[in-house]
Amino acid sequence: MNNSEIIAKTAAFIRGKFLNEGSGHDWEHIRRVWQTAATLAQHTPAAQVEVVELGALLHDVADWKFHGGDEEAGPRAARQWLASLQAEEATIQQVEAIIREISFKGLGVPTPMSTLEGELVQDADRLDAIGAIGVARAFTYGGHKGRPLHDPAVPPVSHDSFESYKKNTAPTINHFYEKLLHLRERLHTPAARAVAEERHAFMEQFLAQFLREWESADVGPAAIQASE
Ligand code: ADP
Ligand code: NI
Repeated sequence: MNNSEIIAKTAAFIRGKFLNEGSGHDWEHIRRVWQTAATLAQHTPAAQVEVVELGALLHDVADWKFHGGDEEAGPRAARQWLASLQAEEATIQQVEAIIREISFKGLGVPTPMSTLEGELVQDADRLDAIGAIGVARAFTYGGHKGRPLHDPAVPPVSHDSFESYKKNTAPTINHFYEKLLHLRERLHTPAARAVAEERHAFMEQFLAQFLREWESADVGPAAIQASE
């Protein structure tokens, strides 16, 4: 099977698996990451496009977040799938590495990617975690896990180990301070950094407005008071 057939079959496999996923890791997330990563690859001549595309398509195939924290579930599932299509061993190993390395693991935990292809996929995945879509996905995930929107009594923390990050059950607003607001500065490519500017500014605006509304709820919204 040639590379474009492997990519097409992988897209169909992942689409079927994630079409009705309800935690913000649905097929549309994967499709956006695939598209963005492929676009970044077009601007990066040294990147092996097929590795970027397969890495993007398979990056969440068996995410540790939904497999009892098992970090090897993803690489294992990707290897099994790609081997069933007789993909080259070198390609399988590169995709496994992307899946192993891609996730955010806590504010105090560096997550370098060992390959250029991995950097492009990680950038694409992180762009989809910020901006308006990022806000929507964060609350979708929080709702899926039964988390409150916000609790001022629970301050955000900086996780210094993947283990403590995994155990986190804080309100969703905390996730912005513990991860999402820090993604911009962790991007690898100038093209992704440029896209991140507007998305980052939107999240800051969203948080300021959210907290204004939250605080005003205690005394009644300011506009109602002003109209009296
Ligand atoms: P990563 O592998 O870096 O975690 P994913 O592609 O799995 O990236 O996406 C993670 C998505 O899940 C993001 O949109 C993120 O906002 C959301 N998410 C993860 N943990 C939380 C959390 N504790 N609260 C809210 N959203 C979360
Ligand atoms: Ni993802």
